[in-house]
Amino acid sequence: MRVNLIVNGRPETVDNVWEGESLLYVLRERAGLPGSKNACEQGECGSCTVYLDGVPVCACLVAAGQAEGREVRTVEGLADGDRLDPIQEAFVECGAVQCGFCTPGLLVQAHDLLRRVPAPTDADIREALAGNLCRCTGYEKILSAVRLAAARGEGGRGGDDRE
Ligand code: FES
Ligand code: FES
Repeated sequence: MRVNLIVNGRPETVDNVWEGESLLYVLRERAGLPGSKNACEQGECGSCTVYLDGVPVCACLVAAGQAEGREVRTVEGLADGDRLDPIQEAFVECGAVQCGFCTPGLLVQAHDLLRRVPAPTDADIREALAGNLCRCTGYEKILSAVRLAAARGEGGRGGDDRE
C-alpha cells in the first residue's frame, strides 16, 4: 500500500507499506527520522510520541495507513532549522537528558503542554508527562526544564502554533 502524509511540513510518499506497519516504523525506517524512539512498541513508555494533526500520540500504536493525508510533527520538527525550540534548550540547560531515549517523547509532550498551558503548575506538568517514562533522570531535571521554559514565557514559541 502507498501512504501519503505530511511530515514536519514536507509531503512524504511511502510505498510498499505492509499491513500492520506502524507510523513509528515509517518515520524511523523510511522517512529518515530516527528521533522518535522505539522502546516498548506497546504504548507504555511514550518515547515514540509525535504530533498527529496537532495532537500527541504514540506513533507505535498508529498504523501507517491511519496517517494517510494527515500531518505529523516529530521531535525533529520542533526546532526551527538550527534553532532549537525553547523547550529543547531548557532540557539541555537543565541536564534533563541522560541516555536520551525518553527525551524525544518528553519534548513533544512538554511542547504540547506549554502551548496549551503557558504557565503550568507542577501538577499540570506531572499530569502531562505521566505517560512518558524515564529510567535515568529521576524526573526532577525534566520538571525543572519545563518550569524553566514556562518561566521564560516561551511555551512552544508563542503557544498557538498548532498544526
Ligand atoms: S515505543 Fe511507543 S509507547 Fe513505547
Ligand atoms: S534519559 Fe534515559 S530514559 Fe530518560
